[in-house]
Amino acid sequence: MSKKISPKDKNFLKPYQIDFGERGVYDTRNPLNDLTGKEWLFATKSVIPKSYPPDFSHELRRKHGGMKPPLLCKELIETFTKKGELVFDPLAGVGGTLIGATLAGRRAIGIEINKEWIQIYQQVCKENNLPQMPCYHGDCLQIMDTYVHDDSVDFILTDVPFWTMDKLEQTRGVIRYAGTSVKKPNPSSLKKFNALPPQSKDDWLHFIESLFKKLWNKLKYKRYMAVFIGNMYRTVTIQKNGKKRKISKYHLLSADIARIGEQQGFILKAERIWYDPSKALGCYGYPFSYVPSIVDQRILIFRKEQI
Ligand SMILES: C[S@@+](CC[C@H](N)C(=O)[O-])C[C@H]1O[C@@H](n2cnc3c(N)ncnc32)[C@H](O)[C@@H]1O
Repeated sequence: MSKKISPKDKNFLKPYQIDFGERGVYDTRNPLNDLTGKEWLFATKSVIPKSYPPDFSHELRRKHGGMKPPLLCKELIETFTKKGELVFDPLAGVGGTLIGATLAGRRAIGIEINKEWIQIYQQVCKENNLPQMPCYHGDCLQIMDTYVHDDSVDFILTDVPFWTMDKLEQTRGVIRYAGTSVKKPNPSSLKKFNALPPQSKDDWLHFIESLFKKLWNKLKYKRYMAVFIGNMYRTVTIQKNGKKRKISKYHLLSADIARIGEQQGFILKAERIWYDPSKALGCYGYPFSYVPSIVDQRILIFRKEQI
């Protein structure tokens, strides 16, 4: 009679393990990724305290103003997919996700509303001898159903456009960089890559809601969606006792996105913080008031756990 294997038995895991030497031990029951236990543990860190090199035709991609490092995207993709699986970015920009997927040996589909960014992505692929992933031009809400089948995507990695607040809500006119006494006009880098009309915060939230509703249908059951979002410090106009007043405040946009994701059925699994130590500090409020220098981006991790 064969002996029943108990989880308490020291050799219980042996039949499932492949030893990859330096990389660690891989568990063949792993349905999510190709990482060993050692690599998986590293990928659970809630803070990513890392600058990424200005690679993959960085100067060209920089025209965008809001692009993400392909190597960071590659690491995220390797955490949430296996080789050959499908990654989707409905807001592809100059292709941080698409290049990351190529580097990781995954397939990818992108959508981008601004043709110029798609052309830059294609140029970057040529310059770096990378195969091009399909990146379709148009409004993702309109064309997603044409190019992406329901329940076909293994991982969504996207980066929502910044909220381009309307004129009433814009601020920060002048800035002074830490260590200098020179005042310069706000470079307004956010405008560059949105190329969309300014919108109220409610309109922006409504767009995210419509987007998540569509993405829900595309993602396979039990798979993950990661969303980059930067929090903001901005001035808004409020009404009190019939009078308009301007106040400067911190906008916890990651909390807004988390709430919308959960309302659409996704389960929030983590908020990872990408802290870029090389980011310049801005001495915005000194010496009168406290204004944060935001040197991090949030990466919200959602999972589809029901059909
Ligand atoms: C934050 S950027 C993404 C940057 C990207 N992660 C990269 O590495 O280049 C968001 C992008 O979404 C695009 N976008 C905004 N609204 C869109 C829409 N409705 N459909 C498709 N793309 C849109 C913008 O043009 C912008 O390039």
